[in-house]
Amino acid sequence: MKTPLTSRELGQLPQPSAEALAHSRGLQSHIADEIGREGGWISFSRYMDLALYAPGLGYYSAGARKFGPAGDFVTAPEISALFGQCLARQIAEVLAECGGDVLELGPGSGKLAWDVLLALDELGALPQRYLLLEVSGDLRLRQQEKLATLPPHLAARAQWLDALPPSFSGAVIANEVLDVLPVHVVSFTNGGMFELGVVAADAGDGQRFAWRSRLLQGGPLAVAAGRISSAYLGNPPPPAYTTEICLAAPAWVSSLATMLERGAIILIDYGFRAAEYYHPSRTQGTLMCHYRHYAHTDPFYLPGLQDITAHVDFTSVAEAGRAAGLDVLGYTTQGNFLIGCGLTDLLARADPRNVTDYLPLANQAQRLVSPAEMGEFFKVIALGKGLDTPLRGFASGHPLPL
Ligand SMILES: C[S@@+](CC[C@H](N)C(=O)[O-])C[C@H]1O[C@@H](n2cnc3c(N)ncnc32)[C@H](O)[C@@H]1O
Repeated sequence: MKTPLTSRELGQLPQPSAEALAHSRGLQSHIADEIGREGGWISFSRYMDLALYAPGLGYYSAGARKFGPAGDFVTAPEISALFGQCLARQIAEVLAECGGDVLELGPGSGKLAWDVLLALDELGALPQRYLLLEVSGDLRLRQQEKLATLPPHLAARAQWLDALPPSFSGAVIANEVLDVLPVHVVSFTNGGMFELGVVAADAGDGQRFAWRSRLLQGGPLAVAAGRISSAYLGNPPPPAYTTEICLAAPAWVSSLATMLERGAIILIDYGFRAAEYYHPSRTQGTLMCHYRHYAHTDPFYLPGLQDITAHVDFTSVAEAGRAAGLDVLGYTTQGNFLIGCGLTDLLARADPRNVTDYLPLANQAQRLVSPAEMGEFFKVIALGKGLDTPLRGFASGHPLPL
């Protein structure tokens, strides 16, 4: 996520450099070629996959600075080390019960891994290995540079994987990865259910792509859309309703479940349960793009230079976990989770009379837990296998329904 962002008209967004623009044009041609090969239409999920992950060109695959003040958005680990320190306390509890390693998925800049390794060392709870799985070659390099600055006994534990291991025990963590898995876009109208896909277009304003709907008939997407319609959209359904369905998320959770022998999978992201996601009043879905700390809803604007995300349907994550034999160990807000993991104790270690140190730390904690900032918007779900002890992150506050 991309913390407090202001919506702006696209024309008012900061202009990219000539080099960045050329990069985006290269990706646009790549996508347009694929649309041509596919007969003139691709699903939005495929478009999002290419825009974010096309080798050497996609937003996450190429070299643009994404994280932090100079990038497009700020994530919790970039805001404060407190985030990783809290998560480390939860990880330590999991490792104490089941042993094993830590596996981080989508580690971004490597900042979370850096904070978690330092904190686990301090807690005397270091695993043998801290595994990292990153789809972006560029980000993998940045993670390697970042973790090389750790003390050698910590840096030596970091190992990068090319794919999920066949089996794993310990703690799996992923912050803001679910929201960048490609989504399909569907619309429900009086005329039936449609899938919104992408066609090449020359609108004359530099935009090379446009939406085009197709009747949705058969297949997993139609099944999922039908379920959403009957379960959540009411009778009669809203006259025009557009939303996203992430088929990739349940598939991803199911592959994590296959891998997990014993331990917990802790996923942190923005989103809500299905009844809120697919509420009849949310007629425009949750698709959002982030460019230089501005948010807007046009995924065809400068592909390759902006992030494209959708909120997470945590009900589908929980259902996929259960279907694959995992227990839902907890689901709560980020604020409750971090407090359950000891955020206030960590804050209390700083001396409030030392204004220079304390005030920034208190400010960071506030951003992470305040309901007006990330505290309620972000949720944490834990799925697990073979764990008996309740997880501390879900002990405080009220568990949320799924
Ligand atoms: C929004 S960034 C979050 C980065 C980091 N976790 C953080 O909190 O700052 C999403 C990250 O997930 C990675 N990613 C996307 N899909 C992935 C997948 N299927 N497996 C592993 N990483 C993935 C991206 O390359 C990127 O590093």
